[in-house]
Amino acid sequence: MQSYILIIGACGQIGTELTYALRAKYGPERVIASDIREGNEDLMESGPFEILDATDYDALEEVVAYYEISEVYLMAAMLSATAEKFPERAWDLNMNSLFNVLNLGKEKKIEKIFWPSSIAVFGPNTPKERTPQSTVMEPSTVYGISKQSGERWCDYYHHKYGVDVRSVRYPGLISWKTMPGGGTTDYAVEIYHRALSQRAYNCFLGENTKLPMMFMNDAIRATMELMDSDAEKIKVRSSYNLAAMDFTPSEIAESIRTHLPDFTISYEPDFRQAIADSWPNSIDDSRARQDWGWRAAFDLERTTGEMLGHLSPRTNEHTE
Ligand code: SER
Repeated sequence: MQSYILIIGACGQIGTELTYALRAKYGPERVIASDIREGNEDLMESGPFEILDATDYDALEEVVAYYEISEVYLMAAMLSATAEKFPERAWDLNMNSLFNVLNLGKEKKIEKIFWPSSIAVFGPNTPKERTPQSTVMEPSTVYGISKQSGERWCDYYHHKYGVDVRSVRYPGLISWKTMPGGGTTDYAVEIYHRALSQRAYNCFLGENTKLPMMFMNDAIRATMELMDSDAEKIKVRSSYNLAAMDFTPSEIAESIRTHLPDFTISYEPDFRQAIADSWPNSIDDSRARQDWGWRAAFDLERTTGEMLGHLSPRTNEHTE
């Protein structure tokens, strides 16, 4: 039997690229994109699309039944910076959408679930360097609290009800197709756009703020490899640590200067500095490597080459 896939939050930074990648692999008709609002034209025209509020269980159930969905990727969430401004809305979206999807799994209406967690599950008391898979987790942000709770629920639904839910803790994600929105690591995308359009960037994090990061191609591949793995290999049912690179704003600026020598960076930390300070500097992803063979391919140098290479023709068309 061929399976149909539903992506919730398909118009977001990760959802867009995941939709393209899954459509390339399984065929456009087998991958149903959905979001609370319409996305860019390319995405909308690349296959079936549904407007869907993931916190509405009945609406979700209807889409799942109509398309005979067996696999759901729940990419809708309110990210760390926005969630600090709207704590209850963030909790409502991040948790209720997860419960809805987990309950579809519990009721055997779908077979497999992907739900992303984040480095935000860690907090100020977590060891900062090469943060282990299992360690102190006392998140101090609204977003981190929702992701940590989500992890516990995933683990619970797997062990208690046999739900096949799989998850990774994404680091900050760097991509050129779709902008991120409302996150603390968003600076690492904005900086490339500004470097090309203005040759200058005013960073909202301090120059020595080191954070774990990953290029989107690695993130999509990790997601697909995890979902393709045999269920017995997936020993961690909360969420896997995932790593690729880690750098500070001053290091990414240096890497940009190897291509654009006149690029300058200034620093004006805002409320997002405290969020970044509570997160790890680097991540130990040995469990993911061991259990399902994970290995990142993009370092900072390669990421900078990809970002500037893909964004520069666009900047020439329309300057920000
Ligand atoms: N990139 C996210 C954020 O900054 C972390 O998961 O909120």
